[in-house]
Amino acid sequence: MKRPLKVGGQYVLDHIGQLLTLEGAVKKKGRHIEPQDLSIIHDAALVVSRGKILWAGPQREVPKEFKKYKKLSAERKMVVPGFVDSHTHLVFSGDRSNEFEMRLAGKSYQEIAQGGGGIARSTNATRKASKNELFLIAKSRVDLFLKQGVTTLEIKTGYGLNFEAEKKCLEVISLLKTKSKATIKATYLAGHAVPIEYTGRKDEYVKILSQEWLPKLRRHIDFADMFVDDGYFSTHDVEILIEEARKHKIPIKLHADELKLTGGTRAAIKCGALSCDHLLQITANEVELLARSETTATLLPTTAFFLNVAYAPARLLLDGGARVALATDFNPGTSPTQDVSLVGLLGALKMKMRIDEIVVAMTLNGAYALGLQETKGACMPGYDADFILLSTDSPARLFYEFGERINLPQVFCAGQPVN
Ligand code: NIG
Ligand code: FE
Repeated sequence: MKRPLKVGGQYVLDHIGQLLTLEGAVKKKGRHIEPQDLSIIHDAALVVSRGKILWAGPQREVPKEFKKYKKLSAERKMVVPGFVDSHTHLVFSGDRSNEFEMRLAGKSYQEIAQGGGGIARSTNATRKASKNELFLIAKSRVDLFLKQGVTTLEIKTGYGLNFEAEKKCLEVISLLKTKSKATIKATYLAGHAVPIEYTGRKDEYVKILSQEWLPKLRRHIDFADMFVDDGYFSTHDVEILIEEARKHKIPIKLHADELKLTGGTRAAIKCGALSCDHLLQITANEVELLARSETTATLLPTTAFFLNVAYAPARLLLDGGARVALATDFNPGTSPTQDVSLVGLLGALKMKMRIDEIVVAMTLNGAYALGLQETKGACMPGYDADFILLSTDSPARLFYEFGERINLPQVFCAGQPVN
């Protein structure tokens, strides 16, 4: 395909080999997905107008009123909604590869953290970095995601852990929103760990991050999150954050039950959180509660892979009727990868998810985890024209290659090609 820098406000993308609209998945609200819910249309066309999808269907049925629009050929490629990565920690500086070596020598993630490594180490480096340095690192990471077809991205703070540094990280994310073609959402995660200067004063820290910093930083914040886990924050701590976030109408997303089962998933469901993420330790009880709730279960298989621990119970969640999303959790400690394809590959091989379930988990259900399910994650009329084109006749191609990938997609955000 020729790559015009601007394709104009209105056009028909035709000669699509297969178009994955995900209409079936949309109707089912992302649950109990079956292969036919990808709603694949062969020999399809998409009508795009001012960044939105106006019409999608078989090419021979394009309505007359669109015949005058400019045409762009997809050259028989497959068209898929852009990926939605709903959980990343990509604003950080520094290097933690020494901790990898410590783990290889037998130390656990928690032991390393207790010895002054872990989140504290990245916090040190992130505090020292200037806003511009952080922006440049973060922008190159966003670009790497975009190149792989991630058109919507959530980014958490959490390596600042004091007012100035959390503000700096949020300002970097706000700047990324204006400088990238991807749709970006900011999550406030000052409750990632108790910073060294508050050692032994966790209650005080929880209060200050919730009641003082959050209101002041409100305009940069889309969601609030807390690392509810053994050695980090408790279900009591998170209630203080939830209460404050509610006052400011900020939706909640939680790190829950990753290291130990400490009640994070239940706390998320109870407060109507958009998502609870990780869930490595949950039992059949939490699975059942999730299936009956509107909270999306976000699973992060590259984290389990890198920590070399058991994966989240994806099959139980899927078969029980929970809405399951997949994301990278890109961070320097537990998931130092931006490989979106690997997330799907591990979903298939290690969590026994089917390709159709994985496609939905990385598009529509990622959008649900960000409250964006009305506009992101499907190729249907009314949705944003964020999609990717790939030379293949099988959706499995999105996930089966790993490592260096040659067959990268062409990526469109709001109807415009970005590469
Ligand atoms: O999502 N679980 C908490 N936070 C990150 C790890 C952060 C770090 O080690 O730097 C995670 O796994
Ligand atoms: Fe995380």
